[in-house]
Amino acid sequence: MTIRSVAVLTSGGDSQGMNAAVRAVVRSALYHNLKVYGIQRGYYGLIHDDIREMDLRSVGDIIHRGGTILQTARCKEMMTPEGQQLAADNLRKRGIDALVVIGGDGSYQGAQKLSKLGIATMALPGTIDNDISYTDFTIGFDTAVSIVVDAINKLRDTMTSHERSSVVEVMGRHCGDIALYAGLASGAESILVPEMPYKVEEVAERMKDNFRSGKRHSIIVVAEGVGTGEEIGSQIREMTGLDTRVTVLGHVQRGGTPTHNDRVLASRLGDFAVRKLLEGESGKACGVINRELVTTDIDLVVGTKKPFNKELYELALRLSQ
Ligand code: ADP
Ligand code: F6P
Repeated sequence: MTIRSVAVLTSGGDSQGMNAAVRAVVRSALYHNLKVYGIQRGYYGLIHDDIREMDLRSVGDIIHRGGTILQTARCKEMMTPEGQQLAADNLRKRGIDALVVIGGDGSYQGAQKLSKLGIATMALPGTIDNDISYTDFTIGFDTAVSIVVDAINKLRDTMTSHERSSVVEVMGRHCGDIALYAGLASGAESILVPEMPYKVEEVAERMKDNFRSGKRHSIIVVAEGVGTGEEIGSQIREMTGLDTRVTVLGHVQRGGTPTHNDRVLASRLGDFAVRKLLEGESGKACGVINRELVTTDIDLVVGTKKPFNKELYELALRLSQ
């Protein structure tokens, strides 16, 4: 099928760099003389026909902005066959041949359904969690990790002055990558992630050993998927008797200007998605593996859990004694 027009939407939890990806899709499509449409509020806007044509200037001045100018939503209707059919019908009604979905695993499943209904689809990994398989990194992950590292640097200053320990709760319900990369990059003493078993007793013992050997503060990074920072913090306080403070970083991890890594990744992936659609590919997820852009069958991506990087996890433990 010849592609003459393409639409783009952002869906699920937003992430820094989504705007850069939207800009890349729009500008690349226009470069290739396609008509291009922006869908507001993800699948909700698609089902409710909130769709507008985009031009070159509509994506000006956004590459450096967090959030998404297309806004995002979680849309239950899209989980139903009726909602999916309505979404596909709305695209057809407007003569839109293809759709680029920027989002996380849930959004990928929506794209998968539309692809099965005959819409040419491409999915781009837009989530801070880095939990999408068949891509080394997702758009927003690098920025989120930088925010966490910056926060831990600040905590370290005050914790050191007061000889306190710090439990830092970061995002990641099913994937510990934010905790892992931020923990390694900031020299955290312990990193608790959903992928690896842990015992709070062992964390506490480690802290006490460190204290005995002269360390006067510890940083424990906890991915939200293993429990709340408050729960872990109070157990540690009880087991160690050390002055332990808890910081929950929450949604600050999802905002702010994207790093150059996220902007470059988003720009490359947005352009790549359009080029692959023009080459006739569909039902695919775009990713980056060993710095090369790749497409993978979306059925494979949705059905596969991203492997956890145990090597990095063990390295972090070895280096933080
Ligand atoms: P993310 O994309 O960040 O993982 P969600 O899991 O909330 O975020 O999914 C975003 C949206 O994708 C959902 O609100 C829904 O509209 C759509 N979606 C999720 N799962 C499915 C599914 N199994 N089938 C169709 N659409 C889905
Ligand atoms: O998937 C991205 C993410 O930020 C997760 O890390 C977090 O658990 C969740 O979204 C929070 O979602 P909400 O936007 O509903 O607060």
